[in-house]
Amino acid sequence: MRKKIVAGNWKMNTTLQEGIALASDLKNALAGKKVNCDVVVCTPFISVAAVAEAVKGSIIGVGAEDCSAQDKGAFTGEVSASMIASTGAKYVILGHSERRQYHGENNALLIQKLQQALANGLTPIFCVGEIKEERESNTFKSVIEGQMAALYTLSAENFGKCVIAYEPVWAIGTGLTATSAQAEEVHAFIRASIAEKYNKTVADNTSILYGGSCKGSNAPELFAQPDIDGGLIGGAALKADTFMPIIEAWK
Ligand code: PGA
Repeated sequence: MRKKIVAGNWKMNTTLQEGIALASDLKNALAGKKVNCDVVVCTPFISVAAVAEAVKGSIIGVGAEDCSAQDKGAFTGEVSASMIASTGAKYVILGHSERRQYHGENNALLIQKLQQALANGLTPIFCVGEIKEERESNTFKSVIEGQMAALYTLSAENFGKCVIAYEPVWAIGTGLTATSAQAEEVHAFIRASIAEKYNKTVADNTSILYGGSCKGSNAPELFAQPDIDGGLIGGAALKADTFMPIIEAWK
């Protein structure tokens, strides 16, 4: 059966010291609690190694927010998937809408990044989602299908190692959440598309997270939907106090 996952995306927030403090707060908040989902924090590159160290002995998995499309070498400023894996991190967010928007990331690049992540044993958390105009013009399903095409270049075995996050761009950091019905419609659409591309078993085993202004107050209703397997959380992941209620939404 597919995993339930609550993953934080810290984005470009937290200094090294703040990141270690946040990770320690979360570790303490989780200590001795029975939790019904996997918990992940994806941090700025600068913090990944220290956060991986700080959460040792806890259930928290650690990830980065991006990786290079290249293996190694003369790519100043880039961070490779093998470097991320060398810290003990197990996850990497790929194709976040902010990377697509501000760094022009497209399918050709994301296919390379997926291959790097998988070759280095990282679990990609691959983001898809439409912008406001695409929602309003009712073209969002074809947009999402177009983004999924990057994942569909993978073998069924490699696809099975990926987590998907549906993040409607109009809901990210805006306080506007997709209604649980809007989110479920897209999650079910993505799962049906995976079943068509691979098969029903692969589709049933794929974790599809929702992201976009998810918080403690709306997580229970979102997570109650049959095709929503957890959340990718931005703003509410920046404090243990606001992240914990989302984790605890999995009863
Ligand atoms: P948000 O961000 O929870 O702050 O809307 C989600 C994301 O971009 O991953």
